[in-house]
Amino acid sequence: MLHPVYIKGFGYYVPERVLDNLELASMVNTSNEWILERTGIKERRIAAPGQTCSDLICQAARRAMDAAGCKAEEITHLLVGTVSGDDAFPATAVRVQQKLGIKGMAFDLSAACTGFIYGLQLARGLLAIEPHAKILVTAGEVLSMLTNWEDRATCVLFGDGAGAAVLSADETAPRTGNPLTVNARIEDILCNADGELSDLLFCNGAGSSFPYKLGDVVGPENFIQMNGRELFKHAVRSMSSISTQLLEKTGYGMDDIDLVVPHQANLRIITAVAERLGVPQEKVFINVHKYGNTSAVSTILGMGEALEQGVIRPGMRILINAFGAGLTWGAALLKF
Ligand code: UT7
Repeated sequence: MLHPVYIKGFGYYVPERVLDNLELASMVNTSNEWILERTGIKERRIAAPGQTCSDLICQAARRAMDAAGCKAEEITHLLVGTVSGDDAFPATAVRVQQKLGIKGMAFDLSAACTGFIYGLQLARGLLAIEPHAKILVTAGEVLSMLTNWEDRATCVLFGDGAGAAVLSADETAPRTGNPLTVNARIEDILCNADGELSDLLFCNGAGSSFPYKLGDVVGPENFIQMNGRELFKHAVRSMSSISTQLLEKTGYGMDDIDLVVPHQANLRIITAVAERLGVPQEKVFINVHKYGNTSAVSTILGMGEALEQGVIRPGMRILINAFGAGLTWGAALLKF
Protein backbone atom coordinates (compact mmCIF):
# COMPACT_ATOMS: atom_id res chain seq x y z
CA MET A 1 0.00 0.00 0.00
CA LEU A 2 1.51 3.33 -1.11
CA HIS A 3 1.63 6.26 1.30
CA PRO A 4 -0.49 9.14 -0.01
CA VAL A 5 1.83 11.59 -1.74
CA TYR A 6 1.16 15.32 -2.01
CA ILE A 7 2.45 18.09 -4.23
CA LYS A 8 3.04 21.05 -1.91
CA GLY A 9 4.05 23.77 -4.34
CA PHE A 10 4.69 24.45 -8.02
CA GLY A 11 7.11 26.79 -9.75
CA TYR A 12 7.77 27.60 -13.37
CA TYR A 13 10.05 29.86 -15.34
CA VAL A 14 10.26 30.90 -18.99
CA PRO A 15 13.10 32.94 -20.49
CA GLU A 16 12.37 36.58 -21.37
CA ARG A 17 13.15 36.38 -25.08
CA VAL A 18 10.00 35.92 -27.17
CA LEU A 19 10.36 34.47 -30.68
CA ASP A 20 7.10 34.99 -32.55
CA ASN A 21 5.92 33.43 -35.81
CA LEU A 22 6.61 36.58 -37.83
CA GLU A 23 10.24 36.60 -36.76
CA LEU A 24 10.49 32.86 -37.56
CA ALA A 25 9.06 33.52 -41.02
CA SER A 26 11.97 35.90 -41.62
CA MET A 27 14.44 33.12 -40.70
CA VAL A 28 13.04 30.09 -42.53
CA ASN A 29 10.51 29.32 -45.30
CA THR A 30 7.32 29.37 -43.21
CA SER A 31 4.48 31.74 -42.36
CA ASN A 32 2.49 32.88 -39.33
CA GLU A 33 -0.66 31.48 -40.99
CA TRP A 34 0.81 27.99 -41.55
CA ILE A 35 2.17 27.70 -38.00
CA LEU A 36 -1.04 28.97 -36.39
CA GLU A 37 -3.32 26.78 -38.48
CA ARG A 38 -1.25 23.57 -38.13
CA THR A 39 -0.07 23.95 -34.52
CA GLY A 40 -1.91 26.79 -32.72
CA ILE A 41 1.46 28.25 -31.70
CA LYS A 42 1.91 32.04 -31.87
CA GLU A 43 5.19 32.45 -30.03
CA ARG A 44 7.72 30.62 -27.91
CA ARG A 45 10.45 31.57 -25.40
CA ILE A 46 14.15 31.15 -26.12
CA ALA A 47 16.93 30.95 -23.51
CA ALA A 48 19.48 33.76 -23.57
CA PRO A 49 23.01 32.96 -24.81
CA GLY A 50 24.79 31.25 -21.93
CA GLN A 51 21.55 30.52 -20.03
CA THR A 52 21.65 26.79 -19.29
CA CYS A 53 19.02 24.21 -18.49
CA SER A 54 20.07 24.21 -14.82
CA ASP A 55 19.77 28.04 -14.73
CA LEU A 56 16.16 27.78 -15.88
CA ILE A 57 15.40 24.95 -13.44
CA CYS A 58 16.88 26.91 -10.51
CA GLN A 59 14.43 29.77 -11.19
CA ALA A 60 11.48 27.38 -11.25
CA ALA A 61 12.73 25.38 -8.25
CA ARG A 62 13.11 28.49 -6.08
CA ARG A 63 9.50 29.40 -6.80
CA ALA A 64 8.31 25.84 -6.05
CA MET A 65 10.20 25.75 -2.73
CA ASP A 66 8.79 29.20 -1.79
CA ALA A 67 5.28 27.99 -2.63
CA ALA A 68 5.80 24.81 -0.59
CA GLY A 69 7.21 26.85 2.31
CA CYS A 70 10.38 24.76 2.34
CA LYS A 71 14.08 25.54 2.30
CA ALA A 72 16.72 24.03 0.00
CA GLU A 73 18.30 22.27 3.03
CA GLU A 74 15.06 20.31 3.57
CA ILE A 75 15.10 18.73 0.08
CA THR A 76 16.31 15.12 0.25
CA HIS A 77 16.02 14.07 -3.43
CA LEU A 78 16.24 16.05 -6.66
CA LEU A 79 15.01 14.75 -10.03
CA VAL A 80 15.45 16.53 -13.34
CA GLY A 81 13.44 15.51 -16.39
CA THR A 82 15.27 16.77 -19.44
CA VAL A 83 16.59 15.88 -22.90
CA SER A 84 18.54 19.13 -23.23
CA GLY A 85 20.60 19.25 -20.04
CA ASP A 86 23.72 21.29 -19.37
CA ASP A 87 26.30 18.61 -20.25
CA ALA A 88 26.66 15.01 -21.49
CA PHE A 89 27.64 14.44 -17.85
CA PRO A 90 27.44 15.05 -14.95
CA ALA A 91 23.69 15.14 -14.49
CA THR A 92 21.99 18.52 -14.75
CA ALA A 93 20.49 17.63 -11.35
CA VAL A 94 23.88 18.03 -9.65
CA ARG A 95 24.37 21.42 -11.32
CA VAL A 96 21.01 22.45 -9.86
CA GLN A 97 22.04 21.03 -6.48
CA GLN A 98 25.24 23.04 -6.51
CA LYS A 99 23.49 26.29 -7.47
CA LEU A 100 20.71 25.90 -4.88
CA GLY A 101 22.70 24.34 -2.04
CA ILE A 102 20.70 21.09 -2.05
CA LYS A 103 22.17 17.81 -0.73
CA GLY A 104 21.13 14.18 -1.14
CA MET A 105 20.32 11.94 -4.10
CA ALA A 106 20.17 13.79 -7.45
CA PHE A 107 19.71 12.43 -10.94
CA ASP A 108 18.35 13.15 -14.43
CA LEU A 109 15.68 11.12 -16.15
CA SER A 110 15.29 10.98 -19.90
CA ALA A 111 11.64 10.51 -20.83
CA ALA A 112 11.33 13.55 -23.12
CA CYS A 113 7.93 15.24 -22.89
CA THR A 114 6.67 12.67 -20.37
CA GLY A 115 9.57 13.49 -18.01
CA PHE A 116 7.47 15.25 -15.37
CA ILE A 117 4.89 12.45 -15.13
CA TYR A 118 7.71 9.86 -14.97
CA GLY A 119 9.31 12.02 -12.25
CA LEU A 120 6.11 12.07 -10.20
CA GLN A 121 5.85 8.29 -10.47
CA LEU A 122 9.48 7.81 -9.37
CA ALA A 123 8.98 10.22 -6.47
CA ARG A 124 6.01 8.16 -5.27
CA GLY A 125 8.27 5.11 -5.24
CA LEU A 126 11.01 6.95 -3.34
CA LEU A 127 8.47 8.19 -0.79
CA ALA A 128 7.27 4.62 -0.27
CA ILE A 129 10.84 3.67 0.76
CA GLU A 130 11.59 6.91 2.62
CA PRO A 131 8.31 8.40 3.89
CA HIS A 132 10.05 11.43 5.41
CA ALA A 133 11.67 12.46 2.12
CA LYS A 134 11.02 15.86 0.57
CA ILE A 135 11.43 15.52 -3.17
CA LEU A 136 11.99 18.24 -5.74
CA VAL A 137 10.73 16.97 -9.09
CA THR A 138 11.79 19.31 -11.88
CA ALA A 139 11.84 19.56 -15.64
CA GLY A 140 13.85 21.89 -17.82
CA GLU A 141 14.44 22.20 -21.52
CA VAL A 142 16.63 24.38 -23.71
CA LEU A 143 15.39 22.74 -26.91
CA SER A 144 16.44 25.84 -28.87
CA MET A 145 20.03 24.54 -28.69
CA LEU A 146 18.98 21.17 -30.18
CA THR A 147 16.93 22.80 -32.93
CA ASN A 148 18.02 22.88 -36.57
CA TRP A 149 16.94 26.42 -37.35
CA GLU A 150 16.98 25.60 -41.09
CA ASP A 151 14.42 22.77 -40.67
CA ARG A 152 10.98 24.38 -40.87
CA ALA A 153 9.26 21.11 -39.94
CA THR A 154 10.72 21.20 -36.42
CA CYS A 155 11.99 24.72 -35.64
CA VAL A 156 8.50 26.20 -35.37
CA LEU A 157 7.40 23.77 -32.66
CA PHE A 158 9.61 23.97 -29.59
CA GLY A 159 10.25 26.42 -26.77
CA ASP A 160 12.45 26.71 -23.68
CA GLY A 161 11.38 26.76 -20.02
CA ALA A 162 11.46 24.99 -16.67
CA GLY A 163 9.08 23.77 -14.01
CA ALA A 164 9.29 22.27 -10.53
CA ALA A 165 7.17 20.71 -7.82
CA VAL A 166 7.90 19.83 -4.18
CA LEU A 167 6.49 16.47 -3.05
CA SER A 168 6.13 14.91 0.38
CA ALA A 169 4.00 12.37 2.23
CA ASP A 170 3.05 14.98 4.85
CA GLU A 171 -0.69 15.64 4.59
CA THR A 172 -0.59 19.04 6.33
CA ALA A 173 -1.51 21.81 3.90
CA PRO A 174 1.14 24.54 3.65
CA ARG A 175 -0.15 28.11 4.19
CA THR A 176 1.60 30.89 2.31
CA GLY A 177 -1.01 32.91 0.39
CA ASN A 178 0.97 32.07 -2.76
CA PRO A 179 -1.25 30.87 -5.67
CA LEU A 180 1.32 28.17 -6.46
CA THR A 181 0.96 26.70 -2.95
CA VAL A 182 -1.14 23.53 -3.12
CA ASN A 183 -1.82 20.34 -1.27
CA ALA A 184 -2.52 18.19 -4.32
CA ARG A 185 -2.78 14.47 -3.60
CA ILE A 186 -1.52 12.17 -6.34
CA GLU A 187 -4.41 9.75 -6.84
CA ASP A 188 -2.71 7.55 -9.41
CA ILE A 189 -0.27 7.55 -12.32
CA LEU A 190 0.33 5.37 -15.39
CA CYS A 191 3.51 5.52 -17.48
CA ASN A 192 4.43 3.64 -20.64
CA ALA A 193 7.02 3.49 -23.42
CA ASP A 194 7.53 1.75 -26.78
CA GLY A 195 11.07 1.66 -28.14
CA GLU A 196 9.78 0.30 -31.47
CA LEU A 197 8.77 3.90 -32.18
CA SER A 198 12.09 5.49 -31.16
CA ASP A 199 12.95 6.54 -34.73
CA LEU A 200 9.99 8.93 -34.95
CA LEU A 201 11.71 11.61 -32.86
CA PHE A 202 15.36 11.66 -31.86
CA CYS A 203 18.58 13.62 -31.64
CA ASN A 204 21.69 11.44 -31.92
CA GLY A 205 24.29 14.22 -31.93
CA ALA A 206 26.10 13.68 -28.65
CA GLY A 207 25.44 9.94 -28.20
CA SER A 208 27.50 6.79 -28.82
CA SER A 209 25.31 5.92 -31.83
CA PHE A 210 26.78 8.91 -33.62
CA PRO A 211 30.34 9.38 -32.36
CA TYR A 212 32.24 12.45 -33.44
CA LYS A 213 35.88 13.45 -33.29
CA LEU A 214 37.75 16.73 -33.12
CA GLY A 215 37.34 18.76 -36.27
CA ASP A 216 34.04 17.14 -37.40
CA VAL A 217 31.49 19.50 -38.84
CA VAL A 218 28.19 19.90 -37.00
CA GLY A 219 25.41 18.50 -39.22
CA PRO A 220 21.65 17.90 -39.11
CA GLU A 221 22.30 14.74 -37.01
CA ASN A 222 23.33 16.98 -34.14
CA PHE A 223 19.81 18.35 -33.96
CA ILE A 224 16.22 17.17 -33.46
CA GLN A 225 14.88 14.92 -36.24
CA MET A 226 11.23 14.06 -36.45
CA ASN A 227 8.52 12.30 -38.46
CA GLY A 228 5.76 14.75 -37.54
CA ARG A 229 2.86 13.13 -39.33
CA GLU A 230 3.39 9.68 -37.75
CA LEU A 231 4.05 11.21 -34.34
CA PHE A 232 0.81 13.10 -34.53
CA LYS A 233 -1.20 9.87 -34.82
CA HIS A 234 0.67 8.14 -31.99
CA ALA A 235 0.32 11.22 -29.79
CA VAL A 236 -3.45 11.25 -30.10
CA ARG A 237 -3.74 7.48 -29.60
CA SER A 238 -1.35 7.19 -26.67
CA MET A 239 -2.53 10.21 -24.67
CA SER A 240 -6.18 9.30 -25.00
CA SER A 241 -5.72 5.58 -24.33
CA ILE A 242 -3.56 6.02 -21.22
CA SER A 243 -6.01 8.61 -19.85
CA THR A 244 -8.87 6.15 -20.35
CA GLN A 245 -6.84 3.35 -18.72
CA LEU A 246 -6.11 5.57 -15.72
CA LEU A 247 -9.78 6.46 -15.32
CA GLU A 248 -10.74 2.78 -15.56
CA LYS A 249 -8.09 1.83 -13.01
CA THR A 250 -9.21 4.47 -10.52
CA GLY A 251 -12.93 3.97 -11.12
CA TYR A 252 -13.58 7.57 -12.16
CA GLY A 253 -15.54 8.76 -15.17
CA MET A 254 -14.75 11.80 -17.27
CA ASP A 255 -17.47 13.67 -15.34
CA ASP A 256 -15.34 13.32 -12.19
CA ILE A 257 -12.55 15.30 -13.86
CA ASP A 258 -12.76 19.07 -13.43
CA LEU A 259 -9.91 20.02 -15.77
CA VAL A 260 -7.48 18.36 -18.16
CA VAL A 261 -4.01 19.87 -18.43
CA PRO A 262 -2.49 18.09 -21.43
CA HIS A 263 1.01 18.17 -22.85
CA GLN A 264 1.09 21.20 -25.13
CA ALA A 265 2.63 19.98 -28.39
CA ASN A 266 0.06 21.05 -30.94
CA LEU A 267 -3.44 22.51 -30.54
CA ARG A 268 -4.79 19.96 -33.03
CA ILE A 269 -3.41 17.08 -30.93
CA ILE A 270 -4.94 18.59 -27.76
CA THR A 271 -8.32 18.98 -29.48
CA ALA A 272 -8.26 15.47 -30.97
CA VAL A 273 -7.43 13.91 -27.57
CA ALA A 274 -10.20 15.91 -25.89
CA GLU A 275 -12.67 14.74 -28.53
CA ARG A 276 -11.68 11.09 -28.05
CA LEU A 277 -12.06 11.43 -24.28
CA GLY A 278 -15.35 13.30 -24.62
CA VAL A 279 -14.03 16.33 -22.71
CA PRO A 280 -15.65 19.67 -23.52
CA GLN A 281 -13.22 22.39 -24.69
CA GLU A 282 -13.84 24.55 -21.57
CA LYS A 283 -12.42 21.74 -19.40
CA VAL A 284 -9.08 21.73 -21.24
CA PHE A 285 -6.32 24.14 -20.24
CA ILE A 286 -4.39 25.50 -23.22
CA ASN A 287 -1.31 27.73 -23.36
CA VAL A 288 0.50 26.22 -26.38
CA HIS A 289 -0.02 29.52 -28.26
CA LYS A 290 2.34 31.30 -25.83
CA TYR A 291 5.10 28.76 -25.30
CA GLY A 292 5.04 26.09 -28.05
CA ASN A 293 6.14 22.61 -27.05
CA THR A 294 8.29 22.89 -23.91
CA SER A 295 8.61 19.10 -23.60
CA ALA A 296 8.64 17.84 -19.98
CA VAL A 297 7.90 21.35 -18.72
CA SER A 298 4.54 21.81 -20.40
CA THR A 299 2.14 20.23 -17.88
CA ILE A 300 3.81 22.11 -14.98
CA LEU A 301 3.61 25.33 -16.97
CA GLY A 302 -0.05 24.58 -17.61
CA MET A 303 -0.91 23.81 -13.98
CA GLY A 304 1.12 26.81 -12.75
CA GLU A 305 -0.72 29.24 -15.00
CA ALA A 306 -4.08 27.60 -14.28
CA LEU A 307 -3.46 28.06 -10.53
CA GLU A 308 -2.46 31.69 -10.94
CA GLN A 309 -5.54 32.38 -13.08
CA GLY A 310 -7.83 30.70 -10.54
CA VAL A 311 -8.77 28.02 -13.10
CA ILE A 312 -7.53 25.30 -10.72
CA ARG A 313 -9.14 25.63 -7.30
CA PRO A 314 -9.03 23.53 -4.12
CA GLY A 315 -11.18 20.41 -4.36
CA MET A 316 -10.75 19.98 -8.11
CA ARG A 317 -9.58 16.72 -9.67
CA ILE A 318 -7.11 17.31 -12.51
CA LEU A 319 -5.98 14.91 -15.24
CA ILE A 320 -2.60 15.55 -16.83
CA ASN A 321 -1.29 13.56 -19.78
CA ALA A 322 1.77 13.65 -22.03
CA PHE A 323 3.66 11.85 -24.79
CA GLY A 324 7.10 12.31 -26.25
CA ALA A 325 10.25 10.90 -27.80
CA GLY A 326 10.81 7.24 -27.00
CA LEU A 327 7.98 7.05 -27.53
CA THR A 328 6.98 7.60 -23.93
CA TRP A 329 3.58 8.52 -22.58
CA GLY A 330 1.79 8.86 -19.29
CA ALA A 331 -1.11 10.28 -17.31
CA ALA A 332 -1.66 11.35 -13.70
CA LEU A 333 -4.69 12.18 -11.57
CA LEU A 334 -4.24 14.92 -8.97
CA LYS A 335 -6.79 16.00 -6.32
CA PHE A 336 -6.15 19.64 -5.42
O1 UT7 B 1 6.39 16.20 -28.14
C1 UT7 B 1 6.45 15.54 -29.38
C2 UT7 B 1 6.92 16.52 -30.41
N1 UT7 B 1 6.43 16.40 -31.74
C3 UT7 B 1 5.14 16.60 -32.11
O2 UT7 B 1 4.27 16.76 -31.32
C4 UT7 B 1 4.88 16.62 -33.57
C5 UT7 B 1 3.51 16.06 -33.94
N2 UT7 B 1 3.21 16.44 -35.31
C6 UT7 B 1 2.73 17.65 -35.61
O3 UT7 B 1 2.47 18.48 -34.75
C7 UT7 B 1 2.45 17.95 -37.07
O4 UT7 B 1 2.65 16.77 -37.83
C8 UT7 B 1 3.36 19.08 -37.63
C9 UT7 B 1 2.92 20.41 -37.06
C10 UT7 B 1 4.81 18.83 -37.31
C11 UT7 B 1 3.19 19.17 -39.16
O5 UT7 B 1 1.83 19.34 -39.50
P1 UT7 B 1 1.17 18.43 -40.63
O6 UT7 B 1 -0.19 18.92 -40.81
O7 UT7 B 1 1.35 17.00 -40.20
O8 UT7 B 1 2.04 18.78 -41.88
P2 UT7 B 1 2.91 17.80 -42.80
O9 UT7 B 1 4.14 17.36 -42.10
O10 UT7 B 1 2.01 16.75 -43.36
O11 UT7 B 1 3.32 18.79 -43.97
C12 UT7 B 1 2.33 19.40 -44.79
C13 UT7 B 1 3.03 20.38 -45.71
C14 UT7 B 1 4.28 19.79 -46.37
O12 UT7 B 1 4.34 20.32 -47.68
P3 UT7 B 1 3.84 19.45 -48.93
O13 UT7 B 1 4.70 18.21 -48.91
O14 UT7 B 1 2.39 19.16 -48.67
O15 UT7 B 1 4.09 20.36 -50.09
C15 UT7 B 1 5.42 20.35 -45.56
O16 UT7 B 1 6.61 20.49 -46.30
O17 UT7 B 1 3.49 21.52 -44.94
C16 UT7 B 1 4.88 21.72 -45.18
N3 UT7 B 1 5.48 22.27 -44.00
C17 UT7 B 1 5.52 23.58 -43.73
N4 UT7 B 1 5.11 24.65 -44.44
C18 UT7 B 1 5.28 25.86 -43.89
C19 UT7 B 1 6.03 21.59 -42.94
N5 UT7 B 1 6.43 22.47 -42.01
C20 UT7 B 1 6.15 23.71 -42.49
C21 UT7 B 1 6.31 25.02 -41.96
N6 UT7 B 1 5.87 26.06 -42.70
N7 UT7 B 1 6.86 25.24 -40.77
